[in-house]
Amino acid sequence: MIPIDIYVERRRRLMDAMGGGVAVLPTAPERIRNRDAHYPYRFDSYFYHLCGFREPDAVLVVVAGKDRRSILFCREKDPEREVWDGYRYGPGEARTAFAFDEAYAIGMLDTRMPDLLADQATVHSHLGDDPAWDARVIDWVNQVRSRARSGVTAPRDVRDLHAVLDEMRLIKRPEEIDTMRRAAAISVQAHQRAMRASRAGRREYEIEAEIVHEFRRHGADAPAYTPIVAAGERACVLHYVSNDGVLKDGDLLLVDAGCELEGYASDITRTFPVNGTFSGPQRDIYELVLAAQAAAIGAVRPGNTWNMPHDAAVRVLAQGMIDLGLLQGAVDSAVETEAYKKFYMHRTGHWLGLDVHDAGDYKRDGAWRALEPGMVLTVEPGCYVRPGEGVPERFANIGVRVEDDVVVTAAGCEVLSAGAPKQVADIEALMRADRE
Ligand code: GLY
Ligand code: MN
Ligand code: MN
Repeated sequence: MIPIDIYVERRRRLMDAMGGGVAVLPTAPERIRNRDAHYPYRFDSYFYHLCGFREPDAVLVVVAGKDRRSILFCREKDPEREVWDGYRYGPGEARTAFAFDEAYAIGMLDTRMPDLLADQATVHSHLGDDPAWDARVIDWVNQVRSRARSGVTAPRDVRDLHAVLDEMRLIKRPEEIDTMRRAAAISVQAHQRAMRASRAGRREYEIEAEIVHEFRRHGADAPAYTPIVAAGERACVLHYVSNDGVLKDGDLLLVDAGCELEGYASDITRTFPVNGTFSGPQRDIYELVLAAQAAAIGAVRPGNTWNMPHDAAVRVLAQGMIDLGLLQGAVDSAVETEAYKKFYMHRTGHWLGLDVHDAGDYKRDGAWRALEPGMVLTVEPGCYVRPGEGVPERFANIGVRVEDDVVVTAAGCEVLSAGAPKQVADIEALMRADRE
């Protein structure tokens, strides 16, 4: 767990960055799935990053400037509700446990906010995420304005909070990286289990069930995103999630699955043969993707820019596609004309953290930003060959992606998910061991 003083320190950093004014951040609402059934609750990542509080119906208020303090509004204790829904902190216990300066019942938010915004120059909020929230913030400002004759001034400036919080979330502390390392380790075990469980005749959802069981068995909160378990031609559907097809002898199985642990995501893809042995054409495509991934990971180091791992992967993939007869012509023109996009149409990665596609800009002033120690990203090249004109028959319907979670370190990088086998010999050895 991330120690509470780290959250206190983050709120202090936010106050420094705000310069003055009041920030107000709600956590995520509970969402109804149907009738009385709710989606599993997941807090808002920005809110959680600043306080570690997991209950719904909570709002964090951070006052910067001379009277700086942090205030939580949360559900009141309610012995009757707690019989149904379980323990809730209530303002008193939440204030102590999460080191807030003040805490109040959420029902007081609308009456307290105009007082908190009085004589403040700026209100900081997430603009544009939720029109109802934006309207509520403006309503508080208007209430302060309506008191002008009593000598109170209202905020004149409404500022978006994303920019400052995105930067704070982008560079991970050692405690966060440790949590992500543990999340990746659980997901690694799930991928190994998926390889062991793979058999012709099983359904994709059976493999998904093995994976999710492994996540929960080790205390992970949930999958960080809907797992993709795609056999055969379904591996060429990038966001395939129905996971109900049959695994066939001779097919590859693409598994993109990662758990969320203590709020932090992992995101790993492995592709392996259902029967434990790659065919020649499968191996050709697989080795190409693996080489592209090695080139991309080799480009992850401080000072290199965000795009360099992607460019490195694209170059290897384009050359390989030409060598395999998937593309014609010279590598420079395949890269320049983006001909490779016929078989590799997504980017090579994204930031990873509390969200699977984590917060943080990829460009600064129009240029790809430099990698810095503490950034965590995925490296996930792929090659997806749909049958079509000019596509060699032997490669048709082969879809491969290999995805790892990588931390930028002072010396270069660390691959958090390295324990999941990805060399052909290692995958085949692991799968053989269980079949003998
Ligand atoms: N699993 C989501 C992604 O790879 O981006
Ligand atoms: Mn990913
Ligand atoms: Mn993924």
